[in-house]
Amino acid sequence: MSGSTPPAREGAPSEDNRPSPAGLKGRILSGIQPTGNIHLGNYLGAIRNWVGLQKDFECLFCIVDLHAITVWQDPQELTRTTREVAAAMIAAGIDPAANALFVQSHVPAHAQLAWVFNCVARLGWLNRMTQFKDKAGKNRENASAGLYVYPNLMAADILVYKATHVPVGEDQKQHLELARDIAQKFNNDYGVALFPQPEPVIRGPGMRVMSLRDGSKKMSKSDPSDFSRINMTDDAETIAGKVRKATTDPNPLPDSVAGLEGRAEAANLLNIYAALTDQTLEQAVAEQAGQQFSQFKARLTETAVAVLGPINAEMKRLMNDPAEIDRILAKGAAKANSIAAPVLREVYKTVGFLPAV
Ligand code: TYM
Repeated sequence: MSGSTPPAREGAPSEDNRPSPAGLKGRILSGIQPTGNIHLGNYLGAIRNWVGLQKDFECLFCIVDLHAITVWQDPQELTRTTREVAAAMIAAGIDPAANALFVQSHVPAHAQLAWVFNCVARLGWLNRMTQFKDKAGKNRENASAGLYVYPNLMAADILVYKATHVPVGEDQKQHLELARDIAQKFNNDYGVALFPQPEPVIRGPGMRVMSLRDGSKKMSKSDPSDFSRINMTDDAETIAGKVRKATTDPNPLPDSVAGLEGRAEAANLLNIYAALTDQTLEQAVAEQAGQQFSQFKARLTETAVAVLGPINAEMKRLMNDPAEIDRILAKGAAKANSIAAPVLREVYKTVGFLPAV
């Protein structure tokens, strides 16, 4: 932490935007990028958990288009995939009437707070972010500046709502740690208690869905091979083809979790199967012990189609009415704005910006 801490000026969070309306456990914010193919990893690692959290938390779900353009996006495709992600979330069970489902660029306070956080976060902190290293690759000099400060914007997404809980997959835990550091440093530097420390919510075993082609790489929207992932838009035949071609090894399935050691692809397929059937990995391994991959893959396909089929059909229906999706997103943005704008004003006042008249 840098600098001395001046005496508190603003004190505790103001009443009007304090989280946790009566009966709820807190306020959730989570986000998803509208980049290309929304896949089974997004569903099992994120969206499915969000659906379950709706009854206990006040929820804000954000489609993070500002984050998306940290790497090149075809403009027309970005518009389409933004609606597609909204459709996927609604089809999977997010209730846009009870929660705010919205697009990040529709709520200007995200980008405005991110700028303040660019001035709070330290270069040393950003240098440790593994996602930047992975995404920038060897050609670091040519990565966008936006990709580098990506985690500061993510911190702003969360803290502009004073969110108390953030459901994410394992891969986003480091970014969430950074958001906590930024919140703490801001509070310390300005001597206020403006931001809470957002808690990660990782339900069940940390769900990390890996590529179907390479069990050491996470399933990702940006993998050039479509066979590496099951998309939420894939039909039954496509899912069957991808599972059939999924990389495996020559041995039958083991009878214990310990037997998955060194068998990343088998472990991944069993993990997926366990998540789809709401079992623990131990239960799934016990159920499939000794099976050949051909039999297991047929069972996995059947299960994936049973779970994703109805979601897929509903997504298609929703995508046929883009105006309705846009209306839903506009309502979500209005709700989100009504929470974010006062928090941003509080931040600006704390920082000492001259109020606009
Ligand atoms: P994104 O768009 O990559 O992924 C959205 C959510 O899906 C989870 N996820 C996975 N879970 C398991 N296995 C996988 N293979 C897999 N791939 C993705 C991610 O953990 C995430 O929960 N930086 C974020 C988006 C973001 C955000 C936020 C999240 C922006 N602002 C604020 C939470 C709070 C991202 O790129 O997620």
